[in-house]
Amino acid sequence: MKNLYIDDLPDYFKQYKKSIKNPKKFWDKIADEGFVWYQRWTKVVDFDMEKAQIKWFKNAKLNITKNCIDRHLAQRGDKTAIIFEPNDPLEKAQYISYRELHERVCKMANVLKDLGVEKGDRVCIYLPMIPELAVTMLACARMGAVHSVIFAGFSDSAVSSRVNDCGAKVIVCSDGSYRGTKSIDLKEIIDKAVENCPTVEKVVVVRRTGTEVTMKEGRDLWLDTLLEKASSDFVSKIMDAEDPLFILYTSGSTGKPKGMLHTTAGYMVYTAYTFKNVFNYRENDIYWCTADIGWITGHSYILYGPLANGATTVIFEGVPTYPEPDRFWQVIDKHKVTQFYTAPTAIRSLAKESTQWVEKYDLSSLRVIGSVGEPINDEAWHWYNDHVGKKKCPIVDTWWQTETGGIMISPIPFVTPTKPTYATLPLPGIQPVLMDEKRNEITGNQVDGNLCIRFPWPGIARTIWGDHQRYVETYFTAFPGKYFTGDGALRDETGYYRITGRVDDVIIVSGHNLGTAPIEDAINQHPAVAESAIVGYPHEIKGSALYGYVTLKESGQVRDRENLRKEINLLISDMIGPIAKLDKIQFVSGLPKTRSGKIMRRILRKIAEGDFSSFGDTSTLLNPEIVEEIKNDRIG
Ligand code: WT7
Repeated sequence: MKNLYIDDLPDYFKQYKKSIKNPKKFWDKIADEGFVWYQRWTKVVDFDMEKAQIKWFKNAKLNITKNCIDRHLAQRGDKTAIIFEPNDPLEKAQYISYRELHERVCKMANVLKDLGVEKGDRVCIYLPMIPELAVTMLACARMGAVHSVIFAGFSDSAVSSRVNDCGAKVIVCSDGSYRGTKSIDLKEIIDKAVENCPTVEKVVVVRRTGTEVTMKEGRDLWLDTLLEKASSDFVSKIMDAEDPLFILYTSGSTGKPKGMLHTTAGYMVYTAYTFKNVFNYRENDIYWCTADIGWITGHSYILYGPLANGATTVIFEGVPTYPEPDRFWQVIDKHKVTQFYTAPTAIRSLAKESTQWVEKYDLSSLRVIGSVGEPINDEAWHWYNDHVGKKKCPIVDTWWQTETGGIMISPIPFVTPTKPTYATLPLPGIQPVLMDEKRNEITGNQVDGNLCIRFPWPGIARTIWGDHQRYVETYFTAFPGKYFTGDGALRDETGYYRITGRVDDVIIVSGHNLGTAPIEDAINQHPAVAESAIVGYPHEIKGSALYGYVTLKESGQVRDRENLRKEINLLISDMIGPIAKLDKIQFVSGLPKTRSGKIMRRILRKIAEGDFSSFGDTSTLLNPEIVEEIKNDRIG
């Protein structure tokens, strides 16, 4: 991909116009730049936005690891592909060259093959941020297995529902994980999860913390023993452009997580192209994204995008505040990081600390800094710009989603003038539109509406695993012919986009996408609980925090409220994970409901925010008197 840079603003507009006028020609050219194809595509794109059937680079044959690893061996064999920075700063960093990565991925692919994994089989991965996580994903891709990484902060029941949904044959986990001063016994969580997972035949265990684990005879195997016998040759499987690459679960508006399916060629081309341009990637850069690989940000911009470009990518195991709240800055200085990509919630929490922590280090290696996962507020933007970027590094506020596979709206560094809190302009090939409630497109500038995308792009998810109907209903039905993002956005007088937040039942807490439904399902399992409703309210660090309104059964009325709160949060922790715990729980005698029985969340949201000014139209409420009670008992 030598010639695909955007040079300046006029060039951006030129390329953008071309890409919209003839998207096929545009993507055809990008796919033609430097990738290894066993067979070329016969058609660039084939799609039906009503049925949500989308195919890119039809009939092309490739293997993504050939492109992410083998292709670089001749010229970059000794170049560092992965820098592993451990949780403990006293533990040595590891520098894994492209050659070594190739060997490790081949060995791992042989291990999986020997365990009976075949092309198309699903492998779930439940690992901390260690090199084996990247190696296992790539090994799956090399042999044609479909990886499904489950964030290693999810509880056993969240794990088993995902494993069962995709029907995984094998789980790769570790004995434990380190996070700051804590260590977590991951194998124990897997043991509990697998009790309810009939499809799982083998559990492969990576040794990381050395904690004692129980190994079930015939099912559980230590990875290091398996690797001893594994050959370091593995010919990559020839995959079709549309063969599944991975499934990644994201929350939705019902209790069941959605397994977003990404396929091979389009995802590769899209992540490679966007990585290069959004991060202004150059050959000797050291690129660091602090996300967990368990989220899409890590898939696309720690692993596939950077490696497709032959880049050096940092995998960081730890947390921003361990041993001190300067770890990010220390690591940037230590490895001379050139691009740094993190989340607003991390920026806000570090901005709370004394600026001495940042000033202690030399951050002059930085060229581009990025933000992702939620809207970045003005204050955090400026702190990031002043103290980290030193007003010299453009901030790329990148808007995208698990479903989009890659970055969609973002400034191009040194090209697009940035504007605090604005994701600015769509990348070439991306056609955002704002729609009103009546399904009409809102044209012109200085307008806001529901953010949709008009034409498919190569990185878009192809379906929800096992439930195409839900895919169609969730994304392609509200605004026929278009992909609906679930976000609201405004377009300013110059055409810049600002994402205003979710317009559906998803709440983003510390950059984690949480559906209200699964949390409510968990709460409602408490024997004393009758009903519940969750809303988000603004939080200084987390962006949004969770406020729960709970009605109790008769048995609950006599219970101690503080204990109940603890039990409810414990239940949420068990069912989903600690990230979904509620910040505030208010017990109410009823929830405001419409005559058709729908909870009026709009009112609950206003109360949680402490905004009693206007509740809008409450005439359809069956029980308007309840609003007064809820208001009076609000937890401030
Ligand atoms: C939702 C997607 C994209 C990878 C990480 C999250 C919100 C994401 C931004 C941004 C404002 C943003 C949106 C989106 N979001 N980036 N730069 N500005 N909001 O992926 O978990 O699928 O969440 O995150 O609401 O819909 P995800």
